[in-house]
Amino acid sequence: MKVIVARDYNELSEKAANILASHIVLKPNSVIGLATGSTPIGTYKELVRIYEEGRISFKEVVSFNLDEYYGLDKSNKQSYYYFMNKHLFNHINIKEENIHIPNGIAKDIELECKNYEGKIKQAGGIDIQLLGIGRNGHIGFNEPDVKFEALTHLVNLDEDTINANSRFFGSIDNVPKLAISMGIKTIMQSKKIILLASGSEKAKTIYNMIHEKITPELPASVLQLHQDVTVILDQGAAQLLN
Ligand code: F6R
Repeated sequence: MKVIVARDYNELSEKAANILASHIVLKPNSVIGLATGSTPIGTYKELVRIYEEGRISFKEVVSFNLDEYYGLDKSNKQSYYYFMNKHLFNHINIKEENIHIPNGIAKDIELECKNYEGKIKQAGGIDIQLLGIGRNGHIGFNEPDVKFEALTHLVNLDEDTINANSRFFGSIDNVPKLAISMGIKTIMQSKKIILLASGSEKAKTIYNMIHEKITPELPASVLQLHQDVTVILDQGAAQLLN
């Protein structure tokens, strides 16, 4: 894994956006994997700025999001569909038909997951996947005790994740308990991975992800086996690394 320690969250966001933007400049029809959560918001802001300066176009870009809450439809303000429009898609020239986010209200979830995998394959696979990381080491919504061989599937959210995400839902009771998520295998099939972490509450998880053994208990540890991972941290998240 290549580890970059940025001065602060702004520099972390700039670095991540620059990597994504260069990828798109070199391959205008890039297939990009996207994450939600607080961490990539600065990266999306920076990407929008680069787009507004006329330095990149998303006209041919195809995107696949990592996950969506089960039971939330596109118009729900807590859905990841809503999040992505708000922070990125509404501000760039990506084509609606090139945007893919699991459908949280699909009638047949198994079929939805199978089709999602099919669409990724049809697009030629993910060129570059952006990831955040949960305090419990989840990537996407692949929670501890994950099956490394899993593709896109319905997951039970971990208590720690439900707690962490209750900040967006007012009350813990309103947080969905299930989500559709790309599996570890889906993520590992991406050609390149960028993982972002900000803040000291992620420091121990980051240390373990890089230095401890590979275990389903810490899903992100599997990234040690991927040949092209760049981890971008701020000072807080990097504080336990020598
Ligand atoms: C989001 C996702 C999650 C988040 C993780 C960190 O699509 O898949 O794995 O990346 O929960 O969230 P933040 O950035 O809010 O700390």
